[in-house]
Amino acid sequence: MEDRVEHERREFLKGGTAIAATAAAGVLLRAPAALAQQAKVKVGVMLPYTGTFAALGVAITNGFRLAIEERGGKPGGREIEYFTVDDESNPAKAPENANRLVQRDKVDVVIGTVHSGVAMGMAKVIREAGTLWINPNAGADEITGPLCAPNIFRSSFSNWQTTYALGKVLKARGHRNPVFITWKYAAGEQVLAAFNEGLKKEGGTLIRELFLPFPQVEFQALLTEIASIKPDAVVAFFAGAGAAKFLKDYQAAGLKGKIPLYGSGFLTEGVLEAVGDAAEGVETTLHYGDGLDTRKDNAFRLAYAKAYRMQPDVYAVQGYDAGQLLAVGLEAVKGDIGSKAPMIKAMETARIDSPRGAWTLSRAHNPVLDIYLRKAVGKQNKVMGIAWKALADPARGCRA
Ligand code: PHB
Repeated sequence: MEDRVEHERREFLKGGTAIAATAAAGVLLRAPAALAQQAKVKVGVMLPYTGTFAALGVAITNGFRLAIEERGGKPGGREIEYFTVDDESNPAKAPENANRLVQRDKVDVVIGTVHSGVAMGMAKVIREAGTLWINPNAGADEITGPLCAPNIFRSSFSNWQTTYALGKVLKARGHRNPVFITWKYAAGEQVLAAFNEGLKKEGGTLIRELFLPFPQVEFQALLTEIASIKPDAVVAFFAGAGAAKFLKDYQAAGLKGKIPLYGSGFLTEGVLEAVGDAAEGVETTLHYGDGLDTRKDNAFRLAYAKAYRMQPDVYAVQGYDAGQLLAVGLEAVKGDIGSKAPMIKAMETARIDSPRGAWTLSRAHNPVLDIYLRKAVGKQNKVMGIAWKALADPARGCRA
């Protein structure tokens, strides 16, 4: 196919009789379309590569590229051209960064981001432009709630999904009066609210909400406060480098072993190598974990380790699934990313064969997820069972 197009291109450029001959054969008229088919799909990647979430951005990028490479680098027959921006997890710069990709680079699809506040800034730009957007992490409930739209997809989770099931876990462990500690920003507030909703249903009471500004990691004052409150459990949402620091500080403050620590799985994800035994025994809920031992997960882990010389985590999986979801769309329209309606149709009805377990999308374009209960054992977030089967975000306010 490529050879024929290249041949036609040369004939076209030669001019003279060659043009006349090929035009007579009807080839000339088709050539520009054929050439257009060969243009690369422009993928705008907006992720953090610096700051507390830097490792998350790298894992998502790696996972995404792996999914593309597994399709010979050409999902739907189209090569990919990447446009990348480091969003620094800085919400103030989000509209400008998103505009750079959408307006200046004119990308066909945006992949991003990690931080919920940054995602909210992207949403405004992307909803106005109508650009296809696959969000491979940021859990902001609004994105698949009141801001839901045909061009907006998520390959990760909503904040609500990550902690709603934890109330049930705490009840099973006999805890009724926990405190919650997190960063004061969109994601922290939403995971806290979802946890509280689940806890109340189980008859528990959240006795204190403890916040510090994102991305601060001076936990000492709050840990002292926890020691004096003496709750029967602590539930935490932190991620990346901030999570590693929190786990170490919790142990250093003498709280580990005294007050059991729980969290959304981001607390212990991708940090076990760095924290020694500070996370040992911490139980969390998340849509991925170690030891799933499925054909798909084993193959993914092997391929990821081979390609990047590191172990994948949930962020790598979400990036990989963003690549898989894009590929489903591109394959359905044979690479013609301009065919928006059929492409979106194929994506919203996709069944993604994910390392975390197969998932489909809700009406709001958010994955319906099995939420695992995990326990940090050595260097693994060992899957202990399913905390909630097929948990769908309630998509409050989505009217698309
Ligand atoms: C978010 O801001 O939505 C967020 C960030 C890091 C995570 C999870 C959610 O690990």
